[in-house]
Order: sequence, then structure tokens, then C-alpha cells
Amino acid sequence: MAQKILGVIGGSGLYNMKDLKVEKEVAVDTPYGAPSDPVVLGELGGVKLAFLPRHGVGHRIPPSGINYRANIFAMKKLGVERIVSVSAVGSMKEEIAPGHIVLPDQFIDRTHQRVGTFFTDGIVGHVSLADPICDDMHGHVLEASQKAGAVVHPGGTYVCIEGPQFSTRAESNVYRSWGVEVIGMTNVTEAKLAREAGICYVTIALATDYDCWHIEEEPVTLEQVLEIMHKNVELAQAILKEVVARPVLDRDCACGEAATKAIVTDPAKIPE
Ligand code: ADE
Repeated sequence: MAQKILGVIGGSGLYNMKDLKVEKEVAVDTPYGAPSDPVVLGELGGVKLAFLPRHGVGHRIPPSGINYRANIFAMKKLGVERIVSVSAVGSMKEEIAPGHIVLPDQFIDRTHQRVGTFFTDGIVGHVSLADPICDDMHGHVLEASQKAGAVVHPGGTYVCIEGPQFSTRAESNVYRSWGVEVIGMTNVTEAKLAREAGICYVTIALATDYDCWHIEEEPVTLEQVLEIMHKNVELAQAILKEVVARPVLDRDCACGEAATKAIVTDPAKIPE
């Protein structure tokens, strides 16, 4: 049996993986075009890993410009069954301070300018997103975060905005009234596509700021996001090292079957 591979999608500030024994970089061809960058294949702590920086090395691609379908398709094509994503987020709660880790288990999608499904071109499918995060992976990442010494909030709702602008104060206050824990610009689209592709998905969200709702703090700036992210990139790397020390690739969940009963159209009946 082929060796299993863990997919890692890195966000702002995480453009490469420390201690990864790089084997090669592969430019993966997909029906949707090229992924954000060539995928780096290597080994970390004895686990085969496929690393992809979602904004491209050097942060070239804005959230709406990311080819999410190509990124997830590339992972699938490489044989990835489970993805750990790392991203910077704004905190929507006082108790989630910059530098803390949140492991969201729910999303609210406020994006409006990107393709978030593989079911187009005559194939209709409706997967369940009731629980968009793989519970089994969530457990591994929670224990790994605790072991790495992170202050970790074990659940929460991530509201995903289109960006690239940060929110207005009115928007930020509305999201807070919805009870969300964190705000970001990328993860919901990845989670939806991963579910359609039958890939487990979990995200390590690193709080970098208090968005703009906090009356005692300055509104978020990109400078602040990158400063906190750079300070904490070692923490993210330490968590990933702990993740691979666990049996994270032993798959005992239903994520892989998400699409099997969800496709309405019979592909065999689609006219040529
Ligand atoms: N990423 C990091 N901080 C953010 C914020 N406040 N809003 C949206 N995305 C973010």
C-alpha cells in the first residue's frame, strides 16, 4: 500500500516548513489550473507531508484570487486524505488574545466572489457540512497544541469574509452579535471543497488581532497580523511536529464518504 500523506496548507507567515526533509517540489496539473505554488513533498517526524502555501511563497495571491479548487484537487491527486490548515485570524472575543490558538469547529460563509464547489458542469451534488471539521483530526490537533504549550481554545465559529479589506466596525459588531469566535478570509472555502473531495480538514487558527470591534485596541492592520504571525510561526511549527507524532493518518471517520450519497446526477447519463 502506498505511504499515506498528510496535507498542510500554510497561511500568512507560514510559507515553508521548518525541519521538513524536502524530497521534491511538484508542479501539479489540475483541471482548474495551477495551485498557489508547487507542492513541497517531504518528511517530518517519519510522516510524509505535502506542503502548500495558500497565498504562494512571498504572499502573491489575495484571498479572492486563490485557486481553491486547484489547491484541493492537487492535494487529492497527490493522495492526501487529511489536511491540516494553518491561518491567521482576528479574534472576536476578549478572552481570545493575540497569540492564542483557536481550533474552529464551525463556519459562517460571508464570501461572495469565489467558486466553492467542484459540482459544476452538469454534475449536481450536495454534501453535508453540518460538521465541517473532521472531529478525529480536531482531537489530534487539540492534544498536539496543548503538548506544544499553546494557549488553545478548543472550538469556535469562524466567520469567513471575502476580503481583501478588513471589516467595517458595523460588520464586526454584527459578527460578534452572531457569537462567532474568529474572523478570516480563506478557511471556509477550503473546508467545503475538502469535504466534497472526501478529504478530512482541520484548521489551526492563530489569533493575530482584535479586528476593529475592541474599543481599547487600534483597528487591525496588515502590519499587526504579520508581526504576530511571525512571532508565532514557531508555535505553529511546534504544533505540526506534535501532530505528526500522533497517529494522525489512521483514518477512522466518515469524511471520505461525504460525496458518495450526495451526487444527484448520474454521471453516466450526462450527454457527451
Ligand atoms: N486575518 C487576520 N486577522 C483578520 C481580521 N481581523 N479579519 C479578517 N481576516 C483576518
